[in-house]
Order: sequence, then C-alpha cells, then structure tokens
Amino acid sequence: MRMYDIIIRKRNGHELTKEEIDFFIKGYTDGTIPDYQASALLMAIYFRGMNKRETADLTMAMVNSGSKMDLSAIDGVKVDKHSTGGVGDKTTLVLAPLVASAGVPVAKMSGRGLGHTGGTLDKLESIDGFQVQISMAQFIQNVNRHKIAVVGQTGDLAPADKKLYALRDVTGTVDNISLIASSVMSKKLAAGADAIVLDVKVGSGAFMKGTEDAFLLAQEMVDIGTNLGRNVVALITEMNEPLGYAVGNALEVKEAIDTLKGKGPEDFMQLCIELGAVMLVLGGKAKDYDAARQILQANIKSGAALAKLIEMIEAQQGNGVQIRNPEMLPKAEHMIEVRAQASGYVSSIDAEGIGIAALLLGAGRETKESAIDYAVGIVLSRKVGDLVEEGDTLAWLHANDLSRLEESRARLLQAYTLSESNPAKRPLIFGMVDKNGITRY
Ligand code: URA
Repeated sequence: MRMYDIIIRKRNGHELTKEEIDFFIKGYTDGTIPDYQASALLMAIYFRGMNKRETADLTMAMVNSGSKMDLSAIDGVKVDKHSTGGVGDKTTLVLAPLVASAGVPVAKMSGRGLGHTGGTLDKLESIDGFQVQISMAQFIQNVNRHKIAVVGQTGDLAPADKKLYALRDVTGTVDNISLIASSVMSKKLAAGADAIVLDVKVGSGAFMKGTEDAFLLAQEMVDIGTNLGRNVVALITEMNEPLGYAVGNALEVKEAIDTLKGKGPEDFMQLCIELGAVMLVLGGKAKDYDAARQILQANIKSGAALAKLIEMIEAQQGNGVQIRNPEMLPKAEHMIEVRAQASGYVSSIDAEGIGIAALLLGAGRETKESAIDYAVGIVLSRKVGDLVEEGDTLAWLHANDLSRLEESRARLLQAYTLSESNPAKRPLIFGMVDKNGITRY
C-alpha cells in the first residue's frame, strides 16, 4: 500500500477502505508518513468528505493508535463531558464539581488552550500549587475518594489525534465534520468513560458556524459512540458571543466560583445546569431532567458544589484558600476601561475576536512554547441585546504587559457590532441529539 495512492483515491472522490485508513493513521503516528502527505490527504478529506463508515473507521484507528484508559476500578457510571471549544468556556470548572457533588464520578482529562480558545488546565494552574499531572493510580484513588479529578491527558492517549490536530490547526483543515467527530470521539473513547456528554458549540466563535452543521456533527459523534456501546448525548449550544463575562485564566476561575455560589452569569449558569442534568440522568442519579435540575440547583444553594471544587483543588495540591478568598487569585496590575464609540444595541460579539484580544494581553499562547500570564484577560460589561450609549463601558482589560494594549483594545472594539434595533434573542441551547435522534428546542 502507498500513501500516494490513498491521497489520489480520496482526491478523486472515492471511499477509503478500513485498511487504507489504518495504514494512514499507523504510518502518520509512527512518523513513516510525512506531514506533507498527511496534509494533502486531510485537504482531500476536507473537500471530498468521508461517509459514516469511513469516519467510524478513522475514529477507531485513532483510538487504537495509543493506550486506552481502564476506569473499571472507579465505582459507578463514569460520565465524561467534552466541549468542541469556545471563548470564556469555563464550563468544566463548574460542571465537574457540581455533578460530582450529586454523586456522579467525574474522571476528567482536559486540555490546554491554543490560539484564541482557552483550556481548562491553564485555568486550573492559575491556582497556586495545583497539579494537573498525577499518576494513574492517584487519579483513580482521587475519583473514588472525592468523586472528582481533573488532569492533563496522558501523552499516549490517542496520539494520532494529537499529531493530526496540530497539523490541521496550521493547514486550514479543522472545520470538517468527519475530522472533528473522529478527533473528539477518539479521545473520549480512549479515555474510557461509560457515558459521554458533548457540548457542540455553534456560532462565530465556534468551528461550526451554522446550526445545521452543528446538528450533523453532533449526530455523527452520537452515532460513533452508540455503535460502540457508549451512551452519548450532545447538546447544541450558542457560541455567538463569549460564555459569561470573563475571558482569561484567573478571571474565569473567579467567575466559576461566583457561579458555584449562585451569583454567576445567567447564560453560563443555565448551560451548566442543562449539561449537568444530562450527566446526572446518564449517571443514574436522577430519573429525569427536571429532577436532575432540582438536585443541581439545591447543591448550588447549599454550597455543596463549591465545597466539592475546594475538595478537588486541595486533593491535587492546590491552594483552597484562594477559592475561599478569590481576591487572592492572581491579579493584574492595570485595569483599563474600554468605552463604546457609538450608541446602539449590541447585536453580536465576535467571540474569536475577544479571544484574540485576551491573547494579545498574554492570557493565551501564540505558540506552544509561550508562557501564560494567569492574571490577565478581559471582563465584558455588555453582552448581546444590551443597549449602550456612546462612552459607556463595554469591557475592562486586565493587563500587566502594556506593549500590546492598543492592539488588544482595537480587537475588542472590532468584535462588538452595534445596531439600531434590538437583535432577536438566540436561544442558548438549540437542541439535543441522542441515540433516539434529534430534538430541536
Ligand atoms: N475539539 C477537538 O477535540 N477536536 C477537533 O477537531 C475540534 C475540536
């Protein structure tokens, strides 16, 4: 078999066999197939697509490219969650302790941010001492003892995805349904959970810009998991503006703490409750979504969910005092107000633009090697639907290094679109996909 022939076959619109897909993934993972040939095939897949059988085979080839986690030593139904990526998406910081406080074991492997999107591990590392790399034995022990652990992905879990994702990131081949579905599902299947909840983002800050594509992506991922005996449910959720108000690591941790106290942004709280309700039902801790929502709301009110976050932080050597006293989290030296330059209703906030504005302040990495400044970022004052007058505060920039402040401010202003009329409100959740099909809300 030759990689050249596989590229030509896909370029000409043919269906690839399981053997061809296995050959590609094995060769690319072990380095015998070079980046330029893998890039050519990815671009051919991008334009020609893959059918369901090819996508499932690609997923399994990536699962089999590395080791698989065995979570059988953890008691109960293990429910994992994955977001397809967004800006201000601090969901795991709230959802994981919230669900764990209701008795669902959360054994979560999270990632770092790259480009304009943030990563849970970076956010957690803004807490002094927090360890994201712990041994497998410790990970399992923590989940059994505390019902929760959030750690970095081990290098050997779906290594093909790791290599391919980095290549797709720089070759314009990320936003393809088969490639995203196989990337997400290979990681989730290798991570060993019994059930998986997917948060499929749609909108300007997401890879899927339109709702129909987001439903197709969700359906593809649910089908892959269902065919392999996993219970998978996807929610299609809004990413036409950042989630909540805070973008930047310690700022997002603070917003997550507020949310666990019941004082968080409405959109973010609602998303956590809806995703959490699905996780509780899948984990067998609630008989239906209504009962699940009530349990979750009660755990916010009683402080049990916040206590669970502190328990997890301390179990992973983090400083729980900073969670009890969020003013002790890293703080930027300067707070710069950004004012509206015109009047009108905020009709959209380009989430990617806000992500880049935060990145320019040092909140994210421009290359894999960049160091993050945990303290910096952006806190929005206005969201979609708000009426602003010229001169009103749109947002606050939290900065240490001022060298790219003006660039950041310009990106932020560009991200806001104002209009004369109040824009139609988009729903936060567009629908659900599970093994029974699609439900549109
Ligand atoms: N998230 C992933 O894990 N993979 C993709 O391809 C896109 C989003």
